[in-house]
Parts: sequence; structure tokens; C-alpha cells
Amino acid sequence: NFTPNAFVDEMVAELKEKLGNDKVVLGLSGGVDSTVAAVLLNKAIGQNLYCIFVNNGLLRKNEFQNVLDQYKGMGLNVKGVDAGDRFLGELAGISDPETKRKTIGRVFIEVFDDESHLLEDVKWLAQGTIYPDVIESVSVKGPSATIKSHHNVGGLPDYMKLKIVEPLRMLFKDEVRRVGATLGIDPELLGRHPFPGPGLSIRILGDITPEKVQILQDVDSVFIEGLKSWGLYDKVWQAGAILLPVNSVGVMGDERTYEKVVALRAVESTDGMTADWVHLPYDFLMKVSNDIINKVKGVNRVVYDISSKPPATIEWE
Ligand code: XMP
Repeated sequence: NFTPNAFVDEMVAELKEKLGNDKVVLGLSGGVDSTVAAVLLNKAIGQNLYCIFVNNGLLRKNEFQNVLDQYKGMGLNVKGVDAGDRFLGELAGISDPETKRKTIGRVFIEVFDDESHLLEDVKWLAQGTIYPDVIESVSVKGPSATIKSHHNVGGLPDYMKLKIVEPLRMLFKDEVRRVGATLGIDPELLGRHPFPGPGLSIRILGDITPEKVQILQDVDSVFIEGLKSWGLYDKVWQAGAILLPVNSVGVMGDERTYEKVVALRAVESTDGMTADWVHLPYDFLMKVSNDIINKVKGVNRVVYDISSKPPATIEWE
């Protein structure tokens, strides 16, 4: 029977004991896990925790600045590193999903490594790894089970020579959220949908350009804000938009258009391993589709993904 208060007390004591006066570096992602890990460590070792939040240029619209401000407001010692151009430069021309993931993983490590070298005497790397990540990273390494490479577990090179500390490694997602609530983290942040490390790159089918990222950020923002204002956001486990590599014919006034198609995806799930598409109300889909086509230049058609996992996956890549 899990009690978040007891977990926090015990873990803070354990971290104090283990880390003493050592400096620790942690990569924040804007997600629930890394945030809860950071707040827990901050409670244990205060300003000896150095957080780095990297903008890979593939976050949601305005997310980098908003989340960075939120972190600062929480008293975390955080540095925002805007490496969007570097990531997008390295990704130019790449269409293969696994190559996208590997490229983002590699560049992330380079950026993170550069930043952590600026800090002196760091001894530890903290990660927001949770129990399902531990299980999944074992299974994706198995010979028959390589489905998608997740780069967020154990991805740092040996030469960094940092000891690893993972305070959430025995917890499930709902337990992490309860710990976060006990620590006083904003419920809105704790209720955020999961978002993949490679970000929008795996929701842009085909090659990635800054223009496509911007279109998708705008579409995604209309969709997510719509879910929030209709009171649907918390009923959905994960939602997002996908930019398809096809154009379709449309009509605007007297003009024939030939523009992009986007797919919307919203799923119910408990752990991401299986998922059902959500029966969003038709009125909502109608409104959001009109809003997207009216507000986002370059998009003239919206479709809704009605596939479950398995056999489909949540992401399209
Ligand atoms: P799939 O598409 O495999 O996704 O059904 C299951 C969950 O995992 C997320 N996902 C990722 N997360 N790096 C991540 O950090 C990745 O490369 C990655 N690929 C998928 C996906 O968003 C969903 O929550």
C-alpha cells in the first residue's frame, strides 16, 4: 500500500545520505517524471541540484518558455538551453523514424554534455526513470522486441563518468503523480499528457523542416487548447496531431487549393502498452477541424485516427 508522504520522507533522507554535499545534474523535459524527480532532489540537496532544460525545437508551441518560467517559479536551479536550430539542422533531410530518434538522442547527449561540462565538480546524473521505463528498456533491448528505440533510459555515454541516481525507479506513473501532489507541484503540470522525447519529429511523417514544425505546433495547439476548453483534456490519456506527407485538393472561395492533411489522435490507456482511440464528440471534432483549417495556413483537411494499439501504435512513427 503506497503512501506518498512516507515515500517522500524516506527518499529525501536517503538522497541526503547518499549525495551529501555532491553536485548533481538533471535533464528536465517538461514532463511529469523529470519534474517530480527534480523537486524531490531539490528538497533533499537544494541548490546542489543543477537542472538543464533543452529546447530541441520539437516541443509544443511556446512550451520551452512557458515550462522554463514554471520551473523557475518552483525554485528549481534550472538553465534553459535553446538548441532548436542545432537539432533541426542535424535532422534536415532525414525521413526514417529510427534515424530521427537516434539523431535526436545523439544531439541531446552532445548538448547536455557540453552544458554539464560548464558545471564544475558534478558527481551525479539524476534521471526521472520510472518503473515501466526500466521494464521497457530491458524489453526493447531483447533481440525480438526492438520496436522503437527509446532514448531516455541509460542513454548517456560512459565518458561522462557520472554516477546515476534515479529516485523514482521503483514507482508507477500514478504513484509519481501522487508524490508530485504531496510535493505541492501544480496539478496542471502533473496532469500533463505524456509526450515523446523526440517530440514532434515523429509526428511529422517524412523529412522535418522548420516550416513543418511550425504548422504542426499550430495545429497541435488548436487541438490541445480545444480539448482543454471542452473539458476533455483530462479524459484523454494522450493526444496530439500528425502532419502527413501528402497534399489534398480543397476549395477556398473560388480557388482550388492543394495543401497538407493533418491527422488528430486521442487515446485512452493506462500505461501506453495498449490503447483505444477516444470517441471524441462529433461536435468537438467539427469545431476543432474548422478551427484548424481556418487558423492554420497550409492545411486544408483534417482526419481522425480510429486505430487502436495493437495493431497500430500511439505514435505514427
Ligand atoms: P507507441 O507509439 O510505441 O508509444 O505506441 C507508446 C508511448 O511511448 C511514447 N513514445 C516515446 N517516448 N521516446 C519517448 O520518450 C520515444 O522514442 C517514444 N516513442 C513513443 C508515445 O508517445 C506513447 O506515450
